[in-house]
Amino acid sequence: KRVAILISGGGSNMVKLVESMTGDHPGRAVIVGSNDPAAAGLARAQALGVPTFAVDHRDFRGDRPGFEAALLEPLLAVRPDILCLAGFMRILTPDFVQRFQGRMLNIHPSLLPKYPGLHTHQRALDAGDRQAGATVHLVTPELDAGPILGQARVPVLPQDTADTLAARVLTQEHRLYPQVLRRFAQGDLTPLTLTAA
Ligand code: GRF
Repeated sequence: KRVAILISGGGSNMVKLVESMTGDHPGRAVIVGSNDPAAAGLARAQALGVPTFAVDHRDFRGDRPGFEAALLEPLLAVRPDILCLAGFMRILTPDFVQRFQGRMLNIHPSLLPKYPGLHTHQRALDAGDRQAGATVHLVTPELDAGPILGQARVPVLPQDTADTLAARVLTQEHRLYPQVLRRFAQGDLTPLTLTAA
């Protein structure tokens, strides 16, 4: 399966996904794209031998359809079977989503359906949650709301800050996403639950 990955920043999840697609893995990373030409993950993808592209969303201020058309062009050119959003921080329109619906995954740093949107770790701390985590889900037009393919849980510790919790969750994201992608690429949509190693 041809796998395209979209990032916005460091791309740590993208790196783990690309590194996981070797040997008998049914997936192969064919391109990494970003909405930010300065995204550090682009150089990391290139270092891993994966072609990259960037479409600066700031060139399309107020023209989301124009941005998405520019994003779609290099994406469709490589004929991806699966599209993974990995730290991709732009909201995509239903038109874009519908082009990939059913084969587009996203990782979100909360135990959905809790805390869709931003600042998930601070919201978990403010709520006094004892557990937090990450979710990989199929992308649908509604933000952070598609069918769940996998979740990883971590404990929230008394002295946690948003940063310490984010770091603990990110470690589990790096375990969860590759495992979910491998299963998904094999056509297995059975939800996966990981607990912190
Ligand atoms: C992290 O906050 C992660 O929880 C979320 O996106 C952000 C950046 O991830 N998925 P990455 O290092 O760019 O993969």
